[in-house]
Formats: sequence, C-alpha cells, structure tokens
Amino acid sequence: MSDGIEDLKIRIKTIPISEIIGRYISLSRKGHYHVGLCPFHNDTSPSLQVNDQKGMFMCFVDQIGGDAISFVRKKENLSYLDALKDICSRVGISWDEYYTPKEEPPKIQMAKRVLSKAALLFQKVATDNSKEEFTSFVKTRNLSPETIKEFQIGLAPGNNILTSYLESIPNKNERKLALDTALEIGIIRKDKNKVNAYFDTFRDRIMFPIFNSFGDIVGFSGRKTKEHQKGKYINSDQSFIFNKKNILYGYHLAKNSIRDNQSVIMVEGQMDVIALFKNGIRNAVAVMGVGLGEAVLKNLKGLTHNFYLALDSDEAGFKAMQRINEMCLSNDIIPKYLDFSPHKDPDEFLENLSKEEFFARKEKAQPFVDILIHNIVPNEIPDLSDKKLEILKSIFPFLAPLKESLSATERIIETAKQLGLKSDSSTIINFYTKFLQDYSKHAGNDSAPQVIVNNNKLPPSTTLENEPTPPLPISTAERRLIEEIIKHPECLSSPKMSLLLENINAAHIKNFILKMQDFIYEIEEIEYVQMVQALTAQEEISQSLREVVGYALFKYEKTKLDDKIISRLLDDFNKKLKEELLLEKRNILRNNQPFCSTKEEADKLMQEISSVDKELMELKISKKIIKPQ
Ligand code: UTP
Ligand code: MN
Repeated sequence: MSDGIEDLKIRIKTIPISEIIGRYISLSRKGHYHVGLCPFHNDTSPSLQVNDQKGMFMCFVDQIGGDAISFVRKKENLSYLDALKDICSRVGISWDEYYTPKEEPPKIQMAKRVLSKAALLFQKVATDNSKEEFTSFVKTRNLSPETIKEFQIGLAPGNNILTSYLESIPNKNERKLALDTALEIGIIRKDKNKVNAYFDTFRDRIMFPIFNSFGDIVGFSGRKTKEHQKGKYINSDQSFIFNKKNILYGYHLAKNSIRDNQSVIMVEGQMDVIALFKNGIRNAVAVMGVGLGEAVLKNLKGLTHNFYLALDSDEAGFKAMQRINEMCLSNDIIPKYLDFSPHKDPDEFLENLSKEEFFARKEKAQPFVDILIHNIVPNEIPDLSDKKLEILKSIFPFLAPLKESLSATERIIETAKQLGLKSDSSTIINFYTKFLQDYSKHAGNDSAPQVIVNNNKLPPSTTLENEPTPPLPISTAERRLIEEIIKHPECLSSPKMSLLLENINAAHIKNFILKMQDFIYEIEEIEYVQMVQALTAQEEISQSLREVVGYALFKYEKTKLDDKIISRLLDDFNKKLKEELLLEKRNILRNNQPFCSTKEEADKLMQEISSVDKELMELKISKKIIKPQ
C-alpha cells in the first residue's frame, strides 16, 4: 500500500468515528457513547454503539464490531480502498491528494489506451462530420446529445480509421506494441492477403463502448448501419481485458441508482439500457450475451436483493432469463419478471407506451420462478393422483436451487393444494427432500444447479468451481476463543496454545492467531488496540473474522488473567473445539449416507459414525463447561 494511503488512514483516524458513521446512519449521543439503529440487522431499538475514544463501533445483537473503515466496508459493500474513497467523499477529504493509482501491466495499459483512443475517434467521426448513418440512427432512436455523450456512442466509418491511426504512431516500438495489442483484443484484424497489413474489425457500425465497473472502456459492441451487413451487432472478442461474463453493460453508470432505488432491472441489449436511462430510469444494466458471472452477481447482490428480469420477450430472451433466474435462486435472490408484451423489449415498450405504464408493470411483477410454476400447472386439474404427483414433481427442478428454504417449500405446498393433493405437508416436503437428494447426486455436470441437502457445512468438493474457496464459517467455540484471546492476549504465550491450534479447522483463524502470537511479544500495552486494528484491516482477513475481532476489541479492558486460569480456560477451549470437529465430521458422514451404493459402503460408513460417536462420548465425560463470559 502506498504511503499516501497510510497518511490517509492516519488522517481518518483523527476524525471522531461518530462523525464518520454519522454520515451513513443517524446517531444520537448517550453518555460517553453514540448510539444508533444497527444497519446490519432489522433493528428497532438502537443496538449500535459508537465509541469515539476507542474509534470503534459494535452491535451487541450481531456481536460484531470494528473501526470506521470496516463499518463503511460492510455497510456499503466496498473494498478497502473504495471504502477509504467513500469516506473521503463524505467527510470532504480530497482522495486524489492521497491516492496514486497502482501501475497496471504495460499490456493492459496499452489495451486501455487503444480502446479509449478508438472510442474518441468513433465519437469524433460521429459528431464532426454529421454522417448520415449516425444522424439517422440518433433521430429514429430519439437520442439526446447528453445520452450520446454519457454512453460515448460513436460511429466506425468504412475506411479503417483505427488501423490508420495505429500505423501512424511515430515511435516504432510503441507502434508495434499498439498494433499487437489491438490485434490481440480483436479490434483490428490481419489482412490474410498481405504481409503486415491490418484492417478494422468494426466498419460502418454504430459503436457502443463497453465499460468495466470502474468506467474503463474494455471493448465495443457495434450495430450495423447498412441493411446488407452481416451480424446485426458484433462484439469485441473475448480477451485478457474483455470477459463478457464479468461485465454488465451500464453498471458503472447504474450502480448508485441501483443502491438508491434498491432494485436493479436486467435487460438484454445496450439500447434497452439507454432507452431506460433516457426515461430517467437509471437502475438498469444489460447482460452481455447469455452468461452472468458469479462475481458480477455477488457485486449486484451487495447493492440490492431486488432483481427484475426484463430481457426480450422472445424464446431466446426467455431461455436467458431462465438461466439467470436459476443462478440468482442459488444465491438466495428471487428475481421478478417484467413483462413487456406485446412489445419485444423495454426499448420498444417505452417508445410505444409510457414510463408510467412501465412502473405499473414493475409494481405488478411476479417472481420469475412463479411464472415457471404457473406455466406447468394446467388450468384443468387431472383426476388421477398419479398425474397430479407427476405435475408436482415437475416443478421441483425449478425450486431445487432454493434448496429446502421456506421459499421453496411454501411454493410446493401451495402447488400441492392447488392440485388437490391430500397428503399432509410434511409428507409432501419429504417427497421433495428425497428428490433433492437424487438430484444433487446427478448434478455433476455444470449445467445442473448445485443442490445442497441439509443446512450443514459442506465438504470442500461441493463448492463451486473457479471460485476461490470462501473461508469456513467461524464456529461458536472459535468465536469465543478469539474473543478471549483479544481480551486476554496473555493467553497467547501459554504453552497450551500450540495444542489448541491443532484443533482449529479454519486455516484463516489459525493464521490470525499465529500472527497475533508473532507481534504480541513486540508491542507495548499502549499500542495494543491500534496494532490489532491494523492487523485485522489486512486484505487476507475475512470480513466475518474482522467483525468478531472488532467486537472483542470494543469490549477490551486491560485486565490480566493469572496462569492457572489461562491454563484451565485453554483446556476447556480445546475440548470444545475438538467436539466441534467431531460433530462436523459426523455431519459429513451422515450426509454421505444416502449416497452409499453398496451395503459394504454403508456398513463402513456406519462404523465410522459410531467411532466418532464414541469419541464424542469420551469427550463429554471429561468435559468441563466453559464458563460464559
Ligand atoms: P437485439 O437484436 O434484441 O437488439 O439484441 P435490440 O436492442 O433490439 O437492437 P435494435 O433495437 O434493433 O438496435 C439484443 C442484444 O443482443 C446482442 C447485442 O448485445 C444486443 O444489444 N446481439 C444481438 C449480438 O451480440 N449479436 C447480434 O447479432 C444481435
Ligand atoms: Mn430493440
């Protein structure tokens, strides 16, 4: 991290934390503290305490705490740097004074330069020469100069303007790098008939730059201007800088509005985003093609849980919505479906009807999954109960991504009622649970949703591919141990500590304790709180761990325990941690039971379970209860 950022952190520390948090939620003074409604749970009486002297906040309901920066990170779902930036903007510190951006690799820098130069050229062509292709597009689409500017829409002429520009770069090395990069990102192509000759990929097209979430141009989408041209839209090739799955068109312009409106409208085409923006509806983004990356979804989810699917009302659009819907459901989001019939897309809808009609449709929108269910349940219910069950079973795959949540089971019971099935609810839910088990067994291919049976922690093999494995959740004993260590760092020098570390499952917690051990010898009492804060601010510390530490630190008072008490305390923790490990192991074994295909396998599993049970019993006999704090 650059020195500037260190200076900024110090400057932020000089501002009373209540003044910073007070810009995000309302606080009132209460004795030595400030208090407010906690934004992290549905709070009705103020459970958030803010202590200016310590520079910390905590919520005693969520049992989390931290400094101003971690508050903002959590509240606004921001990275460390973005949180600093956000604080700057709210308290009136100039961010640029402190921040010098990290140098990007030369290839990425060059790609961005080529792309932004291209965008400028295309805009210049469009506006300077009042080209007929462009003016007629602008006219038929009702685009204002402001909209054109905001989305940086341009025109690629028919004459290889970009290639000519790149070939005219005077410095030979720079020219070569620029041409190679342009070729690699697919914005120019090689002329097969000539040596060292290129041509523009986009010719005679209306050009829409595509931005990443920071607003850097990373690619283009070009719409044809002439009837005979092949491909209505062509997009930049996938490359090191352009990954469609990680991009939502318009996101950089929409994100504030998505947060403010607490809803996002997902559409299919860039013209749909633009049409919505034109009408003052700025919480809209377009999916690029059909895919939606897990990372993009997580980003959006940080802003709102209220998703509207508004893709084209044709078969392709519906299929794409089905895929997006399924992915959302697996992430506990239940998107709604915005119906534009009889029009094809939001663009045409708004051209023909009104913004008011749009909001009326939004108001009436139903969860997409309910539409899928509705489409399956016939108006005329068959008499045969076997037929009814068949229908009920055919809605299960749509609900499977929701696992056994109430959102799924409520819908199943509702549908069963509608079908006139007479079994009681628990029998019907058992039927579904059994389906889920078979379903998850066959969900090996990547198109099938990941189904998680039971709500236990999962063995590592079931986490999603290509995603960094999230840190294991912090268990009760681990949480208590961390609180104890923060409150009584003298525990760290106990000889019993190393044995204890062996019984900690989560690597990130183990590492944190080791780090605490490292620095605790070196620091003075007076620096303690600051040092722990600095340690937990580091990027590799998970958010949940940071909050637990923050909570304990908030309550830290300098009282020391004697060695005997520490020794007893650590013994107790050791047992508790061991017990958790065994219970966890038992859960995993039990989850595997339905998947045994032979009797031998099943017997072996049973044996393992009973040996874990035996260990658990032995532990219980020797266990002393950890005294509550
Ligand atoms: P549509 O063909 O539905 O676009 O494609 P549209 O918004 O209605 O276009 P206009 O109004 O006729 O100009 C929707 C999106 O699908 C992608 C583009 O991103 C487009 O915005 N698309 C479409 C392609 O990538 N290639 C194509 O050939 C067509
Ligand atoms: Mn359209």
